[in-house]
Amino acid sequence: MDASQQIPSIVLLPGDGIGPEIVAAARTLLDAVGAYEYAEHPIGGVAIDETGSALPESTLAACRKADAVLLGAVGGPKWDTTDPDAPRPEQGLLGLRKGLGLYANLRPVKPIDALLDSSPLRRERIAGTDLLVVRELTGGIYFGRKEREPDSAVDECVYTRAEVERIALAAFDAARRRAGDTGKPRVTSVDKANVLETSRLWREVVTGLATEHGDIELDHLLVDNCAMQLVSDPTRFDVIVTENMFGDILSDEAAMLTGSLGMLPSASLGEDGPGVFEPVHGSAPDIAGTGAANPLATFLSAAMMLRHGLGDPDGAERIETAVERALGSGLRTADLHTGTGDERPVGTEEMTDAVLGAL
Ligand code: IPM
Ligand code: MG
Repeated sequence: MDASQQIPSIVLLPGDGIGPEIVAAARTLLDAVGAYEYAEHPIGGVAIDETGSALPESTLAACRKADAVLLGAVGGPKWDTTDPDAPRPEQGLLGLRKGLGLYANLRPVKPIDALLDSSPLRRERIAGTDLLVVRELTGGIYFGRKEREPDSAVDECVYTRAEVERIALAAFDAARRRAGDTGKPRVTSVDKANVLETSRLWREVVTGLATEHGDIELDHLLVDNCAMQLVSDPTRFDVIVTENMFGDILSDEAAMLTGSLGMLPSASLGEDGPGVFEPVHGSAPDIAGTGAANPLATFLSAAMMLRHGLGDPDGAERIETAVERALGSGLRTADLHTGTGDERPVGTEEMTDAVLGAL
């Protein structure tokens, strides 16, 4: 950044559980990479406790004005309820995505060499995996009409042509970026077109767009088949584009290809305005406050924030390389520990120091 430019403003939303620990760690890392202005706001369970709402108006307003938003995690047993009228921490996250128009969720899955043995899947199977899940984030069953009677419930799933088009185009763009000048952009569209009407619309729209974008090599998979192939043949995938709930489920599954859900970052982007960057994992209330949380998915999310939100691809690469080095030196948080070789078990603080040292 040149000096004439303003210092980028980042809203930190630590949230619940391990959220505050990993976001604080990410902040020290960001401070070592560049100069940023921060503002911290409540979201999720802590926001419910403070204000009665999981997404206070002031939090959303602050995010709208920021250059980027870094989020920890929301939720925990304290706020778990089946009462349809009670506020839920997840409403904070969903409201934020909708409120900022973040329809495109990017979840890259690429195992780091040093972790190939941390996955429950065999090294030979996952080596060479390098895929990106592009998840539609503001439509579908998550945001349809909901109804609850004592003995029945409804979650409506709606997609419009325009919603499918814009996420498909986002996936095409991502595939092109990944292919570079020499490769062929490949996209796998995932649906349940043998059963769902929304999926038939999805398939029709994506197929039509791909004929207009002749450089894109497109194939279609049913979601159950995709779930199977993600573990049987993960290297076959490049960009996967799919609707909201399928993307939620498939991205958790794909995360295990990297050794731990604790490794997966994400970026949620809209047409313009700030993006939200967050680890894919949850708030891990069982280890909150013990200093054991793996901060790496948040570090990698901070890297995505630099790349996609703040126009600093070099800073992003510095963080990514530093994370690889820390892991390469054998440090493992509890979620990554396999108990073999010369691994050294560490907590959040030691891992953070190691990444800082490797910058
Ligand atoms: C995710 C999470 C959220 C989702 C929850 C917390 C609402 O699982 O970001 O994948 O389902 O989108
Ligand atoms: Mg999820």
